[in-house]
Amino acid sequence: MSQKVKAVIARSKGAPVEVVEIDVPDPGPGEALIDIKACGVCHTDLHYREGAINDEFPFLLGHEASGIVEAVGEGVTDVAVGDFVILNWRAVCGECRSCKRGNPHICFNTHNAAQKMTLDGVELSPALGIGAFAEKTLVHAGQATKVDPNVKPEVAGLIGCGVMAGIGAALNTGNVQRGDSVAVFGCGGVGDAAIEGARIAGASTIIAVDIDDTKLEWAKGFGATHTVNSSKVDPIEAIRELTNGNGVDVAIEAVGLPVTYEQAFYSRDLAGTVVLVGVPNPEMKIELPLIEVFGRGGSLKSSWYGDCLPSRDFPMLIDLYQQGRLNLDGFVSETIGIDGVEEAFHKMEQGAVLRSVVVL
Ligand SMILES: NC(=O)c1ccc[n+]([C@@H]2O[C@H](COP(=O)([O-])OP(=O)(O)OC[C@H]3O[C@@H](n4cnc5c(N)ncnc54)[C@H](O)[C@@H]3O)[C@@H](O)[C@H]2O)c1
Ligand SMILES: [Zn+2]
Ligand SMILES: [Zn+2]
Repeated sequence: MSQKVKAVIARSKGAPVEVVEIDVPDPGPGEALIDIKACGVCHTDLHYREGAINDEFPFLLGHEASGIVEAVGEGVTDVAVGDFVILNWRAVCGECRSCKRGNPHICFNTHNAAQKMTLDGVELSPALGIGAFAEKTLVHAGQATKVDPNVKPEVAGLIGCGVMAGIGAALNTGNVQRGDSVAVFGCGGVGDAAIEGARIAGASTIIAVDIDDTKLEWAKGFGATHTVNSSKVDPIEAIRELTNGNGVDVAIEAVGLPVTYEQAFYSRDLAGTVVLVGVPNPEMKIELPLIEVFGRGGSLKSSWYGDCLPSRDFPMLIDLYQQGRLNLDGFVSETIGIDGVEEAFHKMEQGAVLRSVVVL
């Protein structure tokens, strides 16, 4: 059996998204059917629509979501019907060489639903294995992380991608410490979450870099101590000036461009860390003098999903939010209907929003 639900798809490269009726199968072994309550519009959805991730069209977009478990398949024990869950796009397998070495947060074989959702018989590619701009979606049960149901769905869902990626880029990947100096390049949902992460870790200097003054103003609300508009001044020089001529301990790239990666690379202090959390497209390249890579020491890291472990980190972020120590409400610029995704992409491109969140 399957059921028909409304959902947002990207049919071909660059074409506006469409709201259509798709077929969602009943959950099979290890799967869960989720009644979606809210799903944030992340820049990665736009990357999918533009064909910048891969060309497996049609995509079922949306991946930053919360909802209620409607049904579970055979053998599912971690979640039950009626649970409030945040969806995650890295359900660890527990069996690959990375999991077996005790590093499940970088699992090399993460789970997705085995069955496919379809549009008129054509298999859909769900964004990041989720596809949650939909009234209901089918996931692997490990992709559903149970959390306290007392948090509003549009706020909880943000933890499923941008907020977790950004906070984790600072806390987990960048390992920001008390007293550190941190620069964050790109102050969208992910970058502002990285700023929050740096604040939570106790960084003393947090420099927000963007090309948009409005974004820089918002970044202050999440904990930036200084701002730099890199369309007006050289951010590398500005960051040196703010750090006694040294550069920052941790530089976080949250745009996904070669130019901002290079700025992050050269804004670091000796032995500092660069974290790439922005997602580049397959054509992008960087060229760096190898002597600089060597001579500056430190580490160049990528942050998959903020190196998070959903079962550990999602409930922890919900706790911090409920205690008033994490500003999640500040990320929700607007709530929209399922037919508002295309317009939300335009607002994102214009820099008018941090997060538009589809509420169902
Ligand atoms: N690594 C992960 O797990 C992960 C998870 C979620 C999103 N992402 C990626 O993170 C990036 C940011 O996502 P988002 O949802 O915050 O996007 P967003 O569009 O909300 O924010 C991007 C920000 O970058 C700024 N910007 C653009 N060009 C710039 C430049 N040259 N210099 C400085 N700032 C510039 C924009 O003004 C905007 O504020 C995207 O590439 C997205 O795909 C990665
Ligand atoms: Zn694994
Ligand atoms: Zn995302």
